[in-house]
This record gives sequence, structure tokens and C-alpha cells, in this order.
Amino acid sequence: MFITFEGIDLSGKSTQAKLLYQHLKKSGKKAILVREPGGTQISEKIRDILLDKKHSKMFSLTEFLLFSASRQQLTEEVIKPHLKKGYFVICDRYYDSSTAYQGYGGQVDMKTILTVNKIATNGLKPDITFFIDIDMKESAARRKSMGKTKDRMEQKKIKYFNQVIGGYRSLSKQYCWRVKLIDGKKNIDEIQNDILNILKKKSKHV
Ligand SMILES: Nc1ncnc2c1ncn2[C@@H]1O[C@H](COP(=O)(O)OP(=O)(O)O)[C@@H](O)[C@H]1O
Ligand SMILES: [Mg+2]
Repeated sequence: MFITFEGIDLSGKSTQAKLLYQHLKKSGKKAILVREPGGTQISEKIRDILLDKKHSKMFSLTEFLLFSASRQQLTEEVIKPHLKKGYFVICDRYYDSSTAYQGYGGQVDMKTILTVNKIATNGLKPDITFFIDIDMKESAARRKSMGKTKDRMEQKKIKYFNQVIGGYRSLSKQYCWRVKLIDGKKNIDEIQNDILNILKKKSKHV
């Protein structure tokens, strides 16, 4: 089963991806946890280029193609081989991030986004995607309490992020059978329960 987590920064993706991974491992399941952009040696180098604050001149399309290149390597090198071996693959971001960020946020033509998303993954779709929904106010409050500085992607304007959030919400309607909207303002345990309940309905192995 291929499970992905989506949402803006600090929405709780990594927290929930890790909790799910630990839950599966504890119950004796084969599982791996990977992140995007990154997850392979090549993809982590592309990640460094993408997040480097010095690269303020990067065009949305350049950004999109770099994310896609990183994704292609991760999909072929790690995700597909593990799915073939019967693993639960949990991925912290996948192609819905490109649709939301470079498409809805960066205004790259949506037809281009959907076509390249398919090419970069050879058509591999997540079985289920959890979109953890918080607004920019909540994200900013969490950033402040963590004292976390911003990388290049996080330095974009508030209007951009509101478009990203709107994009994610729209994806959860367009692909409602796959993209599940989770209220990110609930507490960590409640969210984990919601996620496990949805997964249990989909697979008796969870
Ligand atoms: N449901 C939640 N409510 C409050 N704080 C949360 C919640 N989930 C995660 N956090 C906190 O928010 C911060 C960002 O979480 P993280 O999982 O790293 O987000 P992301 O991977 O989406 O950027 C962390 O300090 C984490 O402990
Ligand atoms: Mg994270």
C-alpha cells in the first residue's frame, strides 16, 4: 500500500507519517518512510538546490521540473521496488505537492503539471493521501513557537500559500476517493486515530 501525506509546512505531515510508520512496524508489518524532495542520494542533492535561499531567481517551471526529477529518482529507486516486495510505503509529500505548490501556487499550467506528474512517476498513484489541513495563521503560530527559520520555498508570499491551501482543498474534492482531508487543528492523537480509522477501512492489514 502506498500512502502519502500532504499539506503546508508545519501542518503535521512528518509527525503523522512517523506515527503511522511506528504503528505499522510495532504490529510487525514491512514498512518504509521516505520524504520528498529527497529520499535518495540524488534526490537529496536536488532538495538542496530547491531549498537553498541563494536561489531566489528560480522560475516556477524550473522548480517544478527539479521536484519532478527528484520524484522520478525516488519512485524508481525506492518506492516501486518496496511496493513490489509488499511493503507499506509512506511518503512525506508526493505529486499532489507539485499540483498544489507549482500549479495552484506557482501558476504553472495545470495540463503541464498533470502530464509531467504522470511521466515522473510512470503513472504510480498513491492508494491513499492524507491532506492535513491548517491555515496560514496556524502555520505561522507553530513556526513562531518553534523558532524555525524559513527555507527558499517557505519564503514565498502569503498569497502564494493561500493558493496552495485552496489547491489542496480542491484536490480533496476532485479526488475524494483518494485524497482525505484531515482537520490539522485537532490534537496529534486525535489525528492519528482519524488516519488509522480511514486506513483500517481500506485494508485489513493496518
Ligand atoms: N495536531 C497538532 N497540533 C499541534 N501541533 C502539532 C500538531 N501536529 C504537529 N504539531 C507540531 O507542529 C510542528 C510541525 O510538525 P511537523 O510534523 O514537522 O509538520 P510538517 O512535516 O507538516 O512540516 C511540530 O513542532 C509538531 O510537534
Ligand atoms: Mg515535515
